[in-house]
This record gives sequence, C-alpha cells and structure tokens, in this order.
Amino acid sequence: MRAGGSDPIREAARLLAERRNAVALTGAGISVESGIPSFRGAQGMWAKYDPMEYATLHAFMQHPRKVWEMLSEMVSVCGGAAPNAAHKGLAALEKLGVVRAVITQNVDGLHQAAGSRRVIEYHGNLDELICVYCWKRYLMRERWTPGAVPLCDCGEILKPNVVLFGESIPWLAQEQAEEEARTCGVLLVIGTSAQVSPACDIPGIAKDAGAAVVEINPEPTSLTASATDIHLRGSASDVIRHLLKELSPGDEASPSAPSGH
Ligand code: APR
Repeated sequence: MRAGGSDPIREAARLLAERRNAVALTGAGISVESGIPSFRGAQGMWAKYDPMEYATLHAFMQHPRKVWEMLSEMVSVCGGAAPNAAHKGLAALEKLGVVRAVITQNVDGLHQAAGSRRVIEYHGNLDELICVYCWKRYLMRERWTPGAVPLCDCGEILKPNVVLFGESIPWLAQEQAEEEARTCGVLLVIGTSAQVSPACDIPGIAKDAGAAVVEINPEPTSLTASATDIHLRGSASDVIRHLLKELSPGDEASPSAPSGH
C-alpha cells in the first residue's frame, strides 16, 4: 500500500485515527532537535568516535577509561537536553489515545521527560550504572561527575546500563517491543536509519502482522523502499506537529504539510 493520496500527512492521520493503536519506534533523529547528535552522518557521534573502539562491550572490558571518554560526552549532552516538540507531540498523541507505546533506541530519557507513559527502552538508559563484575547498581546522578570515571564500591569501573555493541537487548524490552509490533495497527518509525539489528527488524515484524508502516525522516532509509507504506519527509517535530493538527479536533486548518510519497 503506498500513499496514493496527494497529501501523505492526511493519509497518515486518517490511518492513525481509524486504527487508534499505533506504536512508535524512535531513533536518534527524534532527539537531534534537542541538541543531541545522531550517530551516523557527517556530524554523528560515530564520525568522532569509532564505535568498534568506543561502543562495544569488548572495548569497555579492555579499555574502560577510553570508552568513558565517549560515554562522558554522551552523559553530558543528554543530561543537558530537554524534550523537543516531537517528544511532546508523541506524548500528546498518547493522551489522545492514538499512540499506545513508544519503543525507543535512545538512552536520553526524553520521551519520559515529555510525558510519554509507556516507553520501552530497547537499548537501556543513562540513568543507571552497573558493575559488570559484582552486578551492583547505582544511579548515574549519584555516582558520576563530569570528567571522572565512576567506580563501584568493589573498585571496578562502572558501565552505564546501555546496550553496547556485542550486548544482548534486555529480554523484557525485546519481548514487549515484539508484542507491540505484532499487535499494532500502525508503526510510526521516527528518526532512525534502521541499520542496527535487532531494532531494525521491528518494522518487518509489524508489517508481517498487518500493520501500516509510516516513516518520519528527512531522508529515505533502507526501510523506505521495502517496509514503508507512507514516508513523511521532514523533521520529526514538523511532521508530528502537522499530524497533531489533523488529529486534534477544532484546530485551525493545517498549513502546507511536508512532502512525502
Ligand atoms: N527528524 C527526524 N529524523 C531525523 C532528524 C530529524 N530532525 N535528523 C536526522 N534524522 C534521521 C537521519 O536521517 C537518520 O536516518 O535520524 C536518523 C538517525 O540515524 P542514526 O544516527 O543511525 O541513529 P539510530 O538509527 O537511532 O541508530 C540506531 O545505532 O549506534 C547504535 O545504539 C545506537 O541506538 C543507536 C542505533
């Protein structure tokens, strides 16, 4: 099913209103407008830090202080960020009963800060630190200071509770995410390059179960020509603002919407 209509925003809003059981899958792109760099692309984190040297579990076990050079930047940037209109718009769509859950690959906590209540943190979060030797857990805000490397009471260097390359997805998050994908009517895929498995397999699970896939991204991705039914080209905040105008009754007529296919 492709967006035959001349107005893909209207087409997507009609689907969301009719099915009223959408799930969002978000990636770093939704937080770009909060000042958090994405991972890929010229200004991305991985242009500055080679993920194979800074973002694998093996690298952390071998050179934890080096990995903390990248982690410190991530914790500082995320700690100073606020939810943008896209996060807030998704929370509003949840309040309207249109979106029922957010599966996020992001670890910045901005969906919860924006008011989303059902958030599945597929790659963990930066709120917690864990000792990979004695399994003790701590709150990031109580144990980490900028420029320092946080230590466990046992003396080992602590790791943020985020999923590094080579780590498995927390089993509950994976179960919940796949159940949401299998039972949703619309999957909104927002701000992800869809290059990292198993997160990038979620749209296929939803599609195979009969969901419509609506992609929000200024660029096409590997999903666009395969799983995506409607590609709403534009920034997450701009597109979600237009969707909200279509779905919130009594709003003034939506201005010219972003392009799409
Ligand atoms: N609105 C919507 N999408 C945007 C915006 C924006 N304002 N700005 C950029 N994008 C899109 C880009 O076009 C790109 O497709 O967001 C996507 C970001 O892709 P990545 O940087 O690859 O981020 P992501 O897909 O979340 O990465 C997945 O890879 O490195 C791992 O664990 C890391 O969770 C991350 C995973």
